[in-house]
This record gives sequence, C-alpha cells and structure tokens, in this order.
Amino acid sequence: MPVYKSDCFVNILLTGGMGYIGSHVAVVLLQAGHRVVLYDNLSNSDAGVLVRIEQITGKMPIFIQADIRAAETLADALKQHAVEAVMHFAGLKAVGESAQKPIEYYANNVEGTISLLEAMCKAEIRTLVFSGSAAVYGEPQYLPLDEMHPLSATNPYGRTKLHIEEMLRDLSASNPLWCIVCLRYFNPVGAHESGLIGENPVGIPNNLMPYIARVVAGELKELSVFGNDYPTPDGTGVRDYIHVMDLAEGHAASLPWLAEHPGCYAINLGTGQGYSVLEMVAAFASASGHAVPFQIVPRRTGDVAACYANPGKAGRELGWRARRGLFDMCASTWKFQRCIGLESCTSRAISP
Ligand code: NAD
Ligand code: UFG
Repeated sequence: MPVYKSDCFVNILLTGGMGYIGSHVAVVLLQAGHRVVLYDNLSNSDAGVLVRIEQITGKMPIFIQADIRAAETLADALKQHAVEAVMHFAGLKAVGESAQKPIEYYANNVEGTISLLEAMCKAEIRTLVFSGSAAVYGEPQYLPLDEMHPLSATNPYGRTKLHIEEMLRDLSASNPLWCIVCLRYFNPVGAHESGLIGENPVGIPNNLMPYIARVVAGELKELSVFGNDYPTPDGTGVRDYIHVMDLAEGHAASLPWLAEHPGCYAINLGTGQGYSVLEMVAAFASASGHAVPFQIVPRRTGDVAACYANPGKAGRELGWRARRGLFDMCASTWKFQRCIGLESCTSRAISP
C-alpha cells in the first residue's frame, strides 16, 4: 500500500540501505515505483535483508557490498545505475561507543560523507537526503524542539552529525544547484508490519525498545529503567518515539519536495508526542500480552529528562505527518522479535 508515488528521481542510491531505517525506506520507495540501489558494507546488517525486502515488495533491489569510502566503487555505482538522488543512511550510531572510539566515528561518518559528496560532485548528482538526528539539539533549552533550536552536541556521535550538517550547508552555499535535506530523526522504533524486517542490534541493545523486546522474548532477565527522579510526570525519561514506517514515508515525501527546493534544509521527523519509559513498558505489555519485568536503577550518564519534536515544519513543507501510534510501534516490534526467533522467518511472514 504505497502512500507516496513519485515520478521524479527514478533511480535512488541508499548508502547504508541494508540497515534498520534504510531497509524500511527501500520498501516504501520500491512500492512507490522507484528503482533503488542499496550500497552497504554490511558492518551492521546482513545480506538476508535483501531477500526479505523482495518478499515484501516482490522486487529485488540492486545491492552493492562496499564502503562509502571506496571512492572508485562508489563512483562506478552512481554512474552504472544512472543514480539521480542519494539517501545517506550509512554511519555508526551508538552514542556510548562513540565516546570510546571517537576516531572511528569521525572516520566513518564524516570522512565517509566527504567521500560520498566528492563522488556526487563528480557525477553531477546534487540531490541528497541525509539521516540527521535530534542529537544535534544537545540539552533541550525548550520543548518541543523546533528546527530553530540552537545546535550543540553532547557526545562524539552527535558531533559527527553536526559536522556533517555544517558541511552540507557550506556545500549548498557554494553551489545553488544542490538540493539537500537533513531529516532530524527523533526515536525511531517498530518494524514493518510483515515482521520480516526490523531492528536487530548485535549484542545487548542500548536502546529502550529492542531491550524491552528481548526481555519479553526471555533473552534478557529484566529492563533497567534509568532513573525515576526526572522532572517528568512519572519521573522516567520522556522521548518522541516514531514508527519506522512513518519515518520511511517521510523520506519518500521529501523527494518531490526537494525537486522544487534548491538549498539545504533541516526538518524534524517526530510525532510531537512524548512517552515516558514506564508508558513504553505498559504499552509493550499490552501489545505483546506479556508483562515486562523491570527495576529502577540510577540515571544513565548523558540522558536528558525529555526530548520531543515540534513536527510542524514537516507537515507544512512535506505534507507529511506520523500516522501510526504507540500500539503499532510495540506490536510490530514484538512481531519482528518473534520472527527472528523463527527459522522460517525468511520464507514467510507470521500472523499477529
Ligand atoms: P543501522 O546501523 O541499522 O544502518 C546503518 C547501515 O550503514 C548499516 O547497514 C551498516 O552496515 C551501514 N554502514 C555503516 N558504515 C558504512 C560505511 N562506511 N559504508 C557503507 N555502509 C556503512 O542504523 P539505522 O538505525 O538504520 O540508522 C541509519 C542512519 O540514521 C544512521 O546514519 C544513524 O546515525 C541515523 N539515525 C538513527 C537513529 C536511530 O535511533 N536508529 C536516530 C537518529 C539518526
Ligand atoms: N532507557 C532505559 N533503559 C534502557 C534503555 C533506555 O530506561 O535499557 C531509557 C533512557 O534513559 C531514555 C529512554 O529510555 O529515557 C530512551 O533511550 P534510548 O537509548 O532508546 O534513546 P535515546 O533517546 O537515548 O537516544 C536515541 C538514539 C540516539 C539519538 C537520540 C535522539 O539512540 O542515536 O535518540 O534522536 F541521538
């Protein structure tokens, strides 16, 4: 059921297209009639995603296994597939790890983006959708966060996103032909309704939703709730969770808009609604039919009390808004979690 159909930009290259968000965007784009090229080094994804995308859409995307810093391979991919626009998802994204391995984060995210931009310049492709993050707002000075909020970052991951945004603004100022949008994601969660693709982090999850899913699946004992003494209604942290399929539709909506908007823009993709950790726990229990054991532990260093978007600009500019609610976010996560526990997951979707 494609929501957006677009005649512009037939051939689109998705760096990091085999990952969590990129794979959902690929599904929406394929269903809307685009041809997609997934360019990914599989550092945080696996080749099985390709088959699952085909199962969902009936179309097999082109896949190139390579790093975005491999200049020649990237240049060949852009030329050979007559790419007209790029969506740039490739990057390392673990906040905690970025503090341990800052150089890896700058090398992969910033150097990788420079390599991509050089290849795009040579190929004269000047349309780019970039995976930004609410991390560029740092400690919120007011809520909800609109795009005018001052920018800062509290960790190396966030700083790579900020540096990239600044580079993109400089690039756009240097040549008016560029059409660039930095989509600043809030907290993407959930999975495709088939249960075939979703977020499957390696090792112990850092993020709330995959952690809860593994507790309910019996793989982890209990959730640690990081602090219940924040100035929020129930004392636990509040975030703007957004269904990954809504996020994917936001990317599709940005393409026809970009075609008419030269320049470099930032647009929030969030719902505008914040939920606390305990509200997420209750919602997951209700959607899965299983209790979520948890204990309250001290705050996690670097966490803010509340963070949620003003999504008004996305509505005004892209004509997009998030449509899926908390139940869908939890139910699809749970369906995907059960699916990855089944060997038959790659050959069929499972019932709710
Ligand atoms: P992900 O790790 O699932 O996907 C990223 C993909 O990029 C992976 O498949 C990985 O193999 C690939 N990749 C990484 N470095 C690469 C390189 N140098 N060359 C080629 N491929 C490379 O992550 P995701 O959740 O899908 O996130 C996608 C983008 O969205 C990232 O840039 C991330 O920073 C951003 N983002 C994510 C979130 C979130 O909570 N998931 C929030 C805000 C922003
Ligand atoms: N939380 C727990 N227990 C856990 C994990 C998380 O209580 O085991 C709490 C956190 O304290 C926070 C909330 O759940 O209050 C959400 O935490 P996440 O780790 O899921 O997400 P964050 O808001 O910390 O960060 C996410 C991404 C970042 C991105 C940021 C803003 O991980 O990459 O959203 O977009 F920068």
